Amino acid sequence: PLLPPKSLWLFLIGSFAYLTVRDRLPTILTKVIDTIHRNKNKFFEEYGEEGIQAEKQAISLLSKLRNELQTDKPVLALTDGLVDTEPWNQYLHRQQRLQGDQEPVSWFKSPWLYVECYMYRRIHEALLLNPPISDFDVFNEGKTQSFFESSQAVMALCTYLEGIKKNVEELSESQLFELFSKLVQVSLWGNKCDLSISAGQENSQKASPLDSLNSLQTFILVDDTKRVWSTLISAQKLGQSGKTTADRVDIVLDNAGFELVTDLVLADFLVSSGLARQIHFHGKTIPWFVSDVTAKDFQWTIRQTMASNHKWGSKCGVQWQGYLKDGLWRYHDHPFWTQPHEFCDMAPDAPDLYATLQGADLVLFKGDLNYRKLTGDRDWEHTVSFDTALRGFGPAPLCSLRTLKANVQVGLQPGQGEKLTSQDPSWMTNGKYAVIQFHNPKSE
Ligand code: F6P
Ligand code: MG
Repeated sequence: PLLPPKSLWLFLIGSFAYLTVRDRLPTILTKVIDTIHRNKNKFFEEYGEEGIQAEKQAISLLSKLRNELQTDKPVLALTDGLVDTEPWNQYLHRQQRLQGDQEPVSWFKSPWLYVECYMYRRIHEALLLNPPISDFDVFNEGKTQSFFESSQAVMALCTYLEGIKKNVEELSESQLFELFSKLVQVSLWGNKCDLSISAGQENSQKASPLDSLNSLQTFILVDDTKRVWSTLISAQKLGQSGKTTADRVDIVLDNAGFELVTDLVLADFLVSSGLARQIHFHGKTIPWFVSDVTAKDFQWTIRQTMASNHKWGSKCGVQWQGYLKDGLWRYHDHPFWTQPHEFCDMAPDAPDLYATLQGADLVLFKGDLNYRKLTGDRDWEHTVSFDTALRGFGPAPLCSLRTLKANVQVGLQPGQGEKLTSQDPSWMTNGKYAVIQFHNPKSE
């Protein structure tokens, strides 16, 4: 098979990868340190003197981490003995072998994807090594704040959803398709709201996204919605309830806050319209890339929606809690999602997760980081097909819903990339553009 191009590396001074690691990551680390410091009193109240010691220790580990990054020190093995410590350390050896043994793998002499993931894992280590505060989510404040700041848009979406559900039984297939396509786009543009690209700056959704979908259409560079739809329809079987539905759609979540709500709304529509019987969500086991969803964020968001004093908001929240209770919705997490691997490594390196995804009729991958891992974060030509860039990854039919925030984009028409570069040189990283990109392993 064709040898894949090299990974996106950091050494190109001035490249987006380089600037991310030089500027954005230290800013994120400084914010983390500041957050821990601001919570000093809380730690004291909860754990007394031990809490204060833990706060000091964690801050000193994080300052050391920031210094290692800024002075291009070697990437160190992890020492915290969590379930994924071994795979992380093995990955470091793998990286060292790939780079040759003359020089140690260091922050700026590494693939971008690898060091960026590594930083978040090291932040987690700094807390894990200080047991009384090891559960403290350093990104929690930002995530909850972005949810509250988006509350108007959240309520507008909930109201819209409840409106659809009133007569969903009477809709024709083409009307259902229209709604499906609309809610897929809402979930797609929800991905604009992540806190990692803005280094933790405010990044919420103020207005209802439904009104701007038409004007955003031209920014969708690849739109495979029809192929996704056909897959869902052709997966329909007669279920126990006497209804024909696809059995299962999995959503590999990205960010908490507004984006998560757009995913929940899409998931509710899939279940309540009978397009899918069950939805399985996949989140992160540790705080990750500032705003990614953990189990706590997932539950918190549903509880919070339920408790809102908005009629349709709380109705949605109650419904979502009900889906979870009845097992129509399930939440899973797996350490593989917070490792640096390309997804083509999933089958050998996390066979249990691969097998889980094989049970889905369709898997939706949300966001930019998932796209980077789907395509291996490599320097592909823009015209290389998505199928090729996946390099054999295909547990089930899958679709990426991603706004572009990194220098990798495949599956474009000849000339499309060049044209974009001439019109808007930072099109790959400014978050204005998006793709809905589908792959069906069964049709290969
Ligand atoms: O460079 C911005 C960045 O940190 C990327 O590394 C990462 O892919 C992205 O932000 C996170 O975006 P998302 O939340 O869509 O995965
Ligand atoms: Mg994210």
